[in-house]
Amino acid sequence: MLSDNAKSDIQKLMAQYPDARSAVMPALHLVQRELGWLPDDAIQAIAELVGLSKTEVNGVATFYTMYARAPHGKHTIMFCNDLPCALRGSEKMLEHLEHKLGCPAGHTSADGAITLKEAECLGGCDHAPVMLVDGVEHWHDLTIEKLDEIVERLRNT
Ligand code: FES
Repeated sequence: MLSDNAKSDIQKLMAQYPDARSAVMPALHLVQRELGWLPDDAIQAIAELVGLSKTEVNGVATFYTMYARAPHGKHTIMFCNDLPCALRGSEKMLEHLEHKLGCPAGHTSADGAITLKEAECLGGCDHAPVMLVDGVEHWHDLTIEKLDEIVERLRNT
């Protein structure tokens, strides 16, 4: 299930920690980067490598919202639904996004371009509403117009 490169990189990660099990989170990131998501077989393979049970690794992978346990779109939007963002209109914006993508949060648009997920605080409350695109693009002070521009750009890339 895991490539030889992934196995080798995970073993290098394990060597960096006093307890090899501590490498579970970077191992999950590494495998997700390679496969695009974390299927059951990958969870099992990571568990065997780092010395945890499959249940323990799955517990980590399902606790943190940055891990994908199902296939997702080419791009991922994590949209903050915490209180400071809600006070600045995030609910309406999330509804707008759901309408625009044609799918509820937690799902992927029919064209496979964008997966929409709700997220807890993304650390930008002072510039709410906030969303994170593909784990690296932080968008603050969102407006409906900005959302439309971002979605169009993502659909075309
Ligand atoms: S509550 Fe949305 S970024 Fe903190």
